[in-house]
Amino acid sequence: MLKVLVTGGAGYIGSHVVKLLGERGYQVGIIDNLSSGSLKQVLYGKLWVLDLKEREKVLSVLKEFKPEVLLHFAGSIVVEESVKDPLKYYENNVGNTIELLCAMKEAKINNFIFSSSAAVYGIPEIIPVPETAELRPINPYGQTKAMIEKILEDLAQAGEINYISLRYFNVAGADREGKIGPNYRQVTHLILRALKAAKGELPFLEIYGTDYPTSDGTCIRDYIYVMDLAEAHLLAMEYLLDGGKSMALNCGYGRGFSVREVIEEVKRVTKRDFKVVEGRRRPGDPPILIADNTKIKEILNWRPTYDSLEYMIKTAWEWEIKN
Ligand SMILES: NC(=O)c1ccc[n+]([C@@H]2O[C@H](COP(=O)([O-])OP(=O)(O)OC[C@H]3O[C@@H](n4cnc5c(N)ncnc54)[C@H](O)[C@@H]3O)[C@@H](O)[C@H]2O)c1
Repeated sequence: MLKVLVTGGAGYIGSHVVKLLGERGYQVGIIDNLSSGSLKQVLYGKLWVLDLKEREKVLSVLKEFKPEVLLHFAGSIVVEESVKDPLKYYENNVGNTIELLCAMKEAKINNFIFSSSAAVYGIPEIIPVPETAELRPINPYGQTKAMIEKILEDLAQAGEINYISLRYFNVAGADREGKIGPNYRQVTHLILRALKAAKGELPFLEIYGTDYPTSDGTCIRDYIYVMDLAEAHLLAMEYLLDGGKSMALNCGYGRGFSVREVIEEVKRVTKRDFKVVEGRRRPGDPPILIADNTKIKEILNWRPTYDSLEYMIKTAWEWEIKN
């Protein structure tokens, strides 16, 4: 069976993809330094606890495991932190990805799926935003993703790699069997913070900005269920292995919810009220991000199965109270 190497497979999204790969019978190898991931999240495969900056060690894993394809999730992910500490982001997301790409070249592995982000678009002019929109990130995190996309484009042009950059919008929810879920040490995502407030672990939930040019003044985001996103990775992988062309694809449902709408839904699903405080805008937040998902549906024949905010919140809540 096909061998797949997953970097960041002990993290939130990577571990859900590993679970799906394992269930479908793929042979899975994982590289993770456990800086934000955890062992408990790894349900399948062989794990090498390694940092991507250790190129020689990564290279020996690649030579030993011999994967046909590599899925690259490892990275630093907090937008606000990237504004305060850009070098950390350029080092981990750009520098260490280059280390990985060099090791892949030496090990002659040339199929690559990259975890990109809607943050590459910055403040898009067209909503829903198509892949053809100009990349104008407004924070260092988004810059790091756009830089790697550019590097991949150049490598593909030179015939050195086949890649798909999956531009995730806001990923949410937990595995429906409750075995794994969001496991962040630093909780910054809206739904997770709202659940912590519902649970009483946060004294209140702060809304970052209520004066955006949107219907209720709060930011609007496109939330995608983590297992639908996992499915997109498997399709992207198979597409590349069938000789598909390298490209970037949006991963979202093509509709958005405002911060206030999400908070109301969290209160409804959890049946708990909590205090909400209206705060100031955070640096680096675009007002509206919604995916045009026409291309991923056409190219990969990807179909959203769990397009329900209620379902995403429900699975994340069940995970939250269990843990
Ligand atoms: N969560 C989202 O909504 C979202 C949206 C867009 C893009 N993404 C991207 O998806 C990917 C996965 O995000 P996540 O939410 O699962 O984050 P996460 O922090 O849960 O997972 C990242 C994993 O990578 C590992 N890691 C980090 N740096 C490493 C290094 N140098 N060497 C080895 N392992 C390392 C961490 O230990 C962790 O297990 C990231 O690249 C992120 O930028 C996430």
